[in-house]
Amino acid sequence: MVEPASLGSSCEGQWRQQIISRMDFSGTIGVLLAICFVCLLYLSSRKKKNWSNLPPGPIPLPILGNMLQVEVKELIKSLRKLSETYGPIYTFYLGSRPCVVLSGYQVLKEALIEKAEEFSGRGDFPAVQMWSNGNGIVYGTGERWRQLRRFAISTLKNFGMGKRSMEERVKEEAQFLVSEFRKTEGKPFDPTFFLSCAGSNIICTLVFGERFEYTDEKFLTLLNLINSNWKLMSSTWGQLLFTFPKIMRHVPGPHRQIYKNYLQLAAFVGERLKMNKETLDPNNPRDFIDCFLIKVQQEKNNPNTHFNDETMSKTTVNLFFAGTETVSSTLRYGLLILLRHPEIEEKLHEEIDRVVGPHRSPCMEDRSRMPYMDAVLHEIQRYADIVPMGVPHTVTRDIKFRGYTLPKDINIIPLLCTAQADPTQFKNPGCFDPSHFLDENGRFKKNDAFMAFSAVSLPCREASLPGREPGHHGALHLPHHHPPALHPPVTGGAC
Ligand code: HEM
Repeated sequence: MVEPASLGSSCEGQWRQQIISRMDFSGTIGVLLAICFVCLLYLSSRKKKNWSNLPPGPIPLPILGNMLQVEVKELIKSLRKLSETYGPIYTFYLGSRPCVVLSGYQVLKEALIEKAEEFSGRGDFPAVQMWSNGNGIVYGTGERWRQLRRFAISTLKNFGMGKRSMEERVKEEAQFLVSEFRKTEGKPFDPTFFLSCAGSNIICTLVFGERFEYTDEKFLTLLNLINSNWKLMSSTWGQLLFTFPKIMRHVPGPHRQIYKNYLQLAAFVGERLKMNKETLDPNNPRDFIDCFLIKVQQEKNNPNTHFNDETMSKTTVNLFFAGTETVSSTLRYGLLILLRHPEIEEKLHEEIDRVVGPHRSPCMEDRSRMPYMDAVLHEIQRYADIVPMGVPHTVTRDIKFRGYTLPKDINIIPLLCTAQADPTQFKNPGCFDPSHFLDENGRFKKNDAFMAFSAVSLPCREASLPGREPGHHGALHLPHHHPPALHPPVTGGAC
């Protein structure tokens, strides 16, 4: 072998050049080999996990998956766009995790309604899972989830139909809300804060047995925690946590606040559990927590029970969290939409004046005689589309679906927004048009493509929860409160 020191300076230059290019070459080979190795690992894991007959989708990169093919900030929009190329069912790699994306009413119906049991597993949602450890409803799984969910639905239903019915609670809260609005004396104001308080108070009366004043410091802290978590989950940091949970858990950043906020919410619920335990009268349950305490007592000799302090705390936080921002956002959208559509507001007033009149508050019985109000409420929920992606699901066993093999535990992303905007089900999907829920005789008409409530979210729907009630806030304040100062320029048409 020739030693470099024995060479002349020009040869030395050549030699260096050769070495450098050899190094470049071997470096390139190394990188290529590493990529091949990762690809092989990836392909063998596909085989092992039975990912070989998944629906086709965009070609993923190792580790990054399809994340370079979408805008992280606009994930839903990007997923919808991809469905234009790959159809109603395709595979999308969130990092190294394959997810089957379902888009459009037909495929969502086949999965979430016709094969509800098979698609009922909970998919990865690290922001919530980090904290809940599978112990609540929203991120529980298997038998525990089934039992907690069944218990929550029946308990909330009982409270809705109990002595002090849900209707009374909603009416009472609506009065508080209206009186806050009245204090503004017709001047422009931002109703967001009051709507959050009112929406949350409905669920508070069910879960904690009481409503809170809109000035209560503790209540306001809780609302801030919930609001902050919704924002963080929808932020780029939240999306990164969703995509790369294993890595992002260890990366510092604002997304870690999500976990801390949950702990604070749980601490508040913990205080309430303690208070309820000390004052519990098993013959006279006051709220959801009392009912849960009684259930824990009843099951204390069952070694396999799913009812304990841990599941009680997580389930209560779930209900409080899921029931707060959803309702207030819907109310806020409702107001905004009506401000943009004075002609629709006018028709609502006409119906309210005719059916309810000026001397009393509306009640549930009025609903069947107010088809226009019913249709507007449904259309607000469809158009506002506040939970566009639902929550990630999984399949509970290996299944054949539309000719593909979906292995147990594969993540499913149901794009609920695509059902609610499906042109085969709604004649003007991009427009706010109450006639989507009216028949030719002006009677209220259901539409199964209204996914948020028709297919999946049983606790929201069947427990007669406030998700169904924004109209009653609306109907209560509409006859008395016209805020002309807030009307934006009339846009014309219904879009
Ligand atoms: C306008 C109001 C609401 C909307 C649009 C809404 C929408 C949704 C959606 C889309 C899901 C996902 C369902 C799935 O994919 O399985 C869900 C789940 C859930 N929601 Fe709501 N929701 C609303 C109000 C409420 C309220 C008031 C509560 C309070 C009790 C609530 C409690 C829950 C719970 C516990 C789950 C988990 C259900 C399960 O695991 O099966 N929601 N909601």
